[in-house]
Amino acid sequence: MNQSQSPRVVVLTGAGISAESGLKTFRDNDGLWEQHRIEDVATPEAFQRNPDLVYRFYNERRAQLVNDRVTPNPAHLALAQLEKRIGSQLLLITQNVDNLHEQAGSKNVLHMHGLLNSARCMKTGHAIPFLDSFDASSPCQCCSPPSSLRPDIVWFGEMPKYMDEIYDALIQADIFISIGTSGNVYPAAGFVQQASDYGAKTLQMNLEETTNNHYFEQHIQGAASKTVPHFVNSFLREHGL
Ligand code: OAD
Repeated sequence: MNQSQSPRVVVLTGAGISAESGLKTFRDNDGLWEQHRIEDVATPEAFQRNPDLVYRFYNERRAQLVNDRVTPNPAHLALAQLEKRIGSQLLLITQNVDNLHEQAGSKNVLHMHGLLNSARCMKTGHAIPFLDSFDASSPCQCCSPPSSLRPDIVWFGEMPKYMDEIYDALIQADIFISIGTSGNVYPAAGFVQQASDYGAKTLQMNLEETTNNHYFEQHIQGAASKTVPHFVNSFLREHGL
């Protein structure tokens, strides 16, 4: 079978896929994200109330990727391998703001909740790659006089990115796979229903049962670093790829 005959696969990943790379998930510490309440660092209101805290928080998260030498684990690598084999038949949607999928070699990735290594102009919304720290005094490069930059993160109450592309892909998917996400945050938690309504097979890979568990036809329980490579190998074998 060649690439274009592979089933169309849409994968949604969440914090669980990066847990074994040393990044904390959101809901395993009493709802705290790296010692902070989500409402204090991940809402537009928090940014208005205390911009210094919010800039510092994302600067620390960005630096952590480099300083703690956070690298992809076998689950990220397996998905990159799958893309190498089936090309554009795979769309990878991630809620994660780390860049571990890209570090693993994945190219066709949509960061629906934004990206740590990116800054967004507050005036035009234009996003640019940004690896260093920045704050309210850092100028954008698109306006004259320059406007300010904000973290390129989708905060609660804001519209996730790439929704048109995502819904198009869900409608056309043959298989929808969710990996390492608790199913607590919409719209991502509802993708399984959308894909299923349009005829996709649905598979969940997670460490434990989730709130949207019952929407999936098939479940593989376990650590992503084990389950995902195993699944990718079986998929490639099954489809003669
Ligand atoms: P959560 O922290 O809510 O869920 C992580 C899920 O991964 C849990 O169900 C864990 O059981 C599972 N898990 C943990 N370790 C795992 C492993 N090694 N292998 C497989 N599964 C594992 O994270 P998300 O669902 O990604 O949004 O959270 C969704 C959104 O809520 C995030 O993108 C973020 C957050 O608030 C924004 O910041 C906008």
